[in-house]
Amino acid sequence: MKILSLRESLDLDFGDANKLYSKHFNPGLLKIYKALGLGSWDIVSAEGMEIRLRNGRTILDFSSSIGVLGLGHNHPRILGAERICHEEKIIDAIKMAPHKLQGALAHNLAQMLPGPLEVSFFSVSGAEAVESAMKLCEKAQGPGKTKFITMSGAFHGKTHGALSVTTVGGFQRGFLMGLPRENVLEVEYGNLSAVERAIDEETLDGSNPIIAVLVEPVTGEGVHTPPKGFLKGLAGICKKNGIYTIFDEVKVGMGRMGTFCAFQQEEVVPDVVTLSKALGGGKRAIGAMVSSRELFHKAYGKRQDCSLHTSTFSGLGESCAVAIATLNIYREDNLIEKAREKGEYLTRKLSLLKEKHKGKIVELRGRGLLQGVRFSFGKGLFDKVVDTSKMGLFKTTDSAFMASMIRELNERHNILAHFSPSSPDVLHIMPPLIVEIRHLDAFVEALDDILTKGFAIMASHFVKANIRDRLPGTDFS
Ligand SMILES: Cc1ncc(COP(=O)(O)O)c(C=O)c1O
Repeated sequence: MKILSLRESLDLDFGDANKLYSKHFNPGLLKIYKALGLGSWDIVSAEGMEIRLRNGRTILDFSSSIGVLGLGHNHPRILGAERICHEEKIIDAIKMAPHKLQGALAHNLAQMLPGPLEVSFFSVSGAEAVESAMKLCEKAQGPGKTKFITMSGAFHGKTHGALSVTTVGGFQRGFLMGLPRENVLEVEYGNLSAVERAIDEETLDGSNPIIAVLVEPVTGEGVHTPPKGFLKGLAGICKKNGIYTIFDEVKVGMGRMGTFCAFQQEEVVPDVVTLSKALGGGKRAIGAMVSSRELFHKAYGKRQDCSLHTSTFSGLGESCAVAIATLNIYREDNLIEKAREKGEYLTRKLSLLKEKHKGKIVELRGRGLLQGVRFSFGKGLFDKVVDTSKMGLFKTTDSAFMASMIRELNERHNILAHFSPSSPDVLHIMPPLIVEIRHLDAFVEALDDILTKGFAIMASHFVKANIRDRLPGTDFS
């Protein structure tokens, strides 16, 4: 019946911690971490680009915790903002009076975004920001409209409502949807004619049941960028048809693409934008949905409607304080402009690498500080080393190769990188915005080394390491 103290929890050795994780948290995830060589990480601290392990290794974090770490780990000024909150005992939770930091953060976001985006709602996750945006549009459209358009390959979150418009990765399988399936229209990403066709089909009888279109300005899973002019064209079509646009910038916003939001690289402004991940400075769970004052007031402007969409932890004091500090650091350190320059540098380096390893690197995707490298691993190569049909975790050749690459980057080059299982041949390069040129060089050199040695060597290391670790549930024989 004993519960662990915080001190005891922090001092757990990783073996004991893993047992608790497996028994009480998520055994499947632990297996994946182990297969990638990450299950034995005993992390003592993290700062900037670096994760420090008890065994003395220092890892460069190129995963950004999938986008959360715009400012890296434990940025000193974010710690400073938290310290101010603690020293001044600022009020964190207050629901029966306005919190001054909520208005201040909403003001700051309005300054960072183009007009007329200026009214915010704060969430505690990306999915919640997306659902808030969908509800806002639904309420503003009024009764009678029932449908949303989403794109193929889209990721908008895994809660029931957001899952209804998440088309990638098979995440919907086995679940009821928050929205009835017939109320979600899926069109090809980046294809304006497909959007027009979907609208035409729905409006044949003169009515228009479509509430809004959701789109990621760059897709977070596949790292796809739409054709130039797509977002502007989409907004034009939607405006003409009285349909709202929701641009989901939860992953690619917050400066990662070299502008505060990715959509700002086209002359377009959506009706609603969603942000999250890096907004919390790597320390707080906060998201935002930002719309025009007109749209917000149409939905929730009446006194009887103003509490129709609220949430308990929306805009806690310390979360707002950290988000305010985050935006100030972005401005003062010129991080967005620098992200653009570093992104261009990375693209140049990767293009040279692609030229050098023709046939192995077949495509470069993305821009700024979310870039994807697509490999052709060579069908049948892994199968010569291992019977993939017997592998418990990585069932396709591409995912087994990509897992090998993640493990190779980790164990031989001290680099943490990631990929999306829905695009298992695409390695994501997604460092914090504070990344330095020397880190980008280290990453590209590591990739060069792996590609020069060849995929077969990388795969054999993976198989040997997993046999050595005797990963339960994985049969490499
Ligand atoms: C574009 C996009 N929207 C929404 C979400 C959902 O965010 P969360 O996982 O915080 O619910 C994500 C998460 O990766 C995302 O990438």
